[in-house]
Amino acid sequence: ARTAAVIPAAGRGVRLGPGAPKALRTLGGTPMLIHAVRAMADSRAVSLVVVVAPPEDAAEVRTLLDAHALPDRTEFVVVPGGETRQESVKLGLDVLPPGFDIVLVHDAARPLVPVDTVDAVVEAVRDGAPAVVPALPLADTVKQVEPAAVPGEPEPVVATPDRSLLRAVQTPQGFDRDTLVRAHETVTDNVTDDASMIEQLGLAVVTVPGHEEAFKVTRPLDLVLAEAVLARRRL
Ligand code: C5P
Repeated sequence: ARTAAVIPAAGRGVRLGPGAPKALRTLGGTPMLIHAVRAMADSRAVSLVVVVAPPEDAAEVRTLLDAHALPDRTEFVVVPGGETRQESVKLGLDVLPPGFDIVLVHDAARPLVPVDTVDAVVEAVRDGAPAVVPALPLADTVKQVEPAAVPGEPEPVVATPDRSLLRAVQTPQGFDRDTLVRAHETVTDNVTDDASMIEQLGLAVVTVPGHEEAFKVTRPLDLVLAEAVLARRRL
């Protein structure tokens, strides 16, 4: 079974502050998206990468992919994205050719995921899991709250889930392709990851160990950390 990676990269990155779409901001001088594409293409399992670009930047993304040295054995396709992450992933799935039976979905916002994590996800799907997510234990205790009507007002705490049972999940998430396509056709709720759609179908989702370098670049401090991780790798 061949493996394709779909990279949703069409978000604006509002929480990162004003500027270019998040995926086009640079880390170590290279756009975050190129790091994410390379992270997928570095896995020997991956032979197709579909980048779901901000619609107004699709041509620029194509130019960027052509300008950066990427593995020859991998094909790179660019499609314009949608209004939500879910829609963007669906638009990527729509262009997958036959024969790609395993699909990874990887956020452009996780540019530094190590190849061993990518390979572990692919391996678990090959071993028969319909859906696989990299996961890490939480450092923080998590509270469920009653959201405040006015942002910034104190919020009553409702519950404290047992931290030892919680995991923070990352990408790439790996799927049996037919299962993921069915999930995207069936589940219409707004979800924040693809695996939760598989859960809604009542199918099994399993975890493999995540990696701290697969963190999501969301806020300005994450850029500082990402630059430091890159600098350490280049030593
Ligand atoms: O918003 P969030 O941080 O969950 O976005 C995760 C990923 O989904 C990012 O890589 C972002 O570019 C992508 N995305 C997308 N299309 C959207 C919104 C987000 O491809 N409309």
